[in-house]
Amino acid sequence: MTLQVAESRSTSKSDLYDRLGAQVSALLAGERDLIANAANFSSLIFHSLPDLNWAGFYFEKNGELVLGPFQGRPACVRITVGQGVCGTAAAKCVTTIVPNVHEFPGHIACDSASNSEIVVPLMKDEKLIGVLDLDSPIPGRFDEVDAAGLNHLVSLLVETTR
Ligand code: SME
Repeated sequence: MTLQVAESRSTSKSDLYDRLGAQVSALLAGERDLIANAANFSSLIFHSLPDLNWAGFYFEKNGELVLGPFQGRPACVRITVGQGVCGTAAAKCVTTIVPNVHEFPGHIACDSASNSEIVVPLMKDEKLIGVLDLDSPIPGRFDEVDAAGLNHLVSLLVETTR
């Protein structure tokens, strides 16, 4: 399969997410394995969205978030639900934007290059199954357009596992 990675700098952010939606659908079509699809999803996001230093997943297992497929530097393997940005987003089941990770109490620093972060819960049948975590070296990199776009993209991923 040939996949064209979205050109990220010449279009608006919402246009980029629209195109990424089509690309995610094409990339995951016909495959239901969550790990395989999460791996390709993290690669597509990492290479399509500007100014990221980490993009990947943690999956919920017995009250912990366990590292899943990702792109970027090696990361901490287990995060307790309720701890760090990922664990806080998981505990509340709410998309969490952190403009400055150094001001977030309990932030877990996996890559010293990270300055801002967004975490999107993955919900299936109203239950948390994991989170998508994106890190950026740019302070304030993520906004509500990213939150809406990423929520749509992860909903496409979760749908593939049905
Ligand atoms: N910063 C996250 C930990 C995961 S890494 O950024 C990949 C947190 O505070 O939960």
